[in-house]
Amino acid sequence: MKLGKFILLLTLISSTLLADNGQLFLKMKDMRDAMHQISDGFFFNNKIGILKGINALEEANSIFDSYSSVKENLRDNEKHMSAISYNNALKMKQHITRMKNHVSKDEYNKASMMYTQIINDCTACHSIVRGW
Ligand code: HEC
Repeated sequence: MKLGKFILLLTLISSTLLADNGQLFLKMKDMRDAMHQISDGFFFNNKIGILKGINALEEANSIFDSYSSVKENLRDNEKHMSAISYNNALKMKQHITRMKNHVSKDEYNKASMMYTQIINDCTACHSIVRGW
């Protein structure tokens, strides 16, 4: 098979696999990576690293910018929990903004408390969608 055809085939396969909730899962992995980057930034005293992680987190979290996008990303049996999930995503957005403000003012204690809040926000939404 020629390389071009092979690449086309790969693209077709991956777009089929990524249809449905693919976008959500990719963004969730980005969120996980961003949280790692931020915590490494705190541990290794790397302000730039923290800020980069925060930007990546904001970018990934933008899939939850509207009520309809939260609803779209939930499975059919979870859609009735869209409002509570959306509120949760909004809270997380506020905590991300606060963390960013604290980091830019070198208030690392306060920033790290926001980090903990964000972990709680991740868990709160996962509790809803996973029935924990
Ligand atoms: C508004 C709801 C919501 C918020 C907030 C949320 N998630 Fe998720 N997350 C989901 C849904 C829905 C799934 C897919 C269903 C599942 O895994 O049970 C998911 C799944 C995941 C997965 C598993 C992906 C996979 O491939 O199996 C990871 C990792 C993840 N989220 C990370 C995070 C992190 C990190 C945060 C916080 C920074 C976060 N999520 C915040 C809704 C949310």
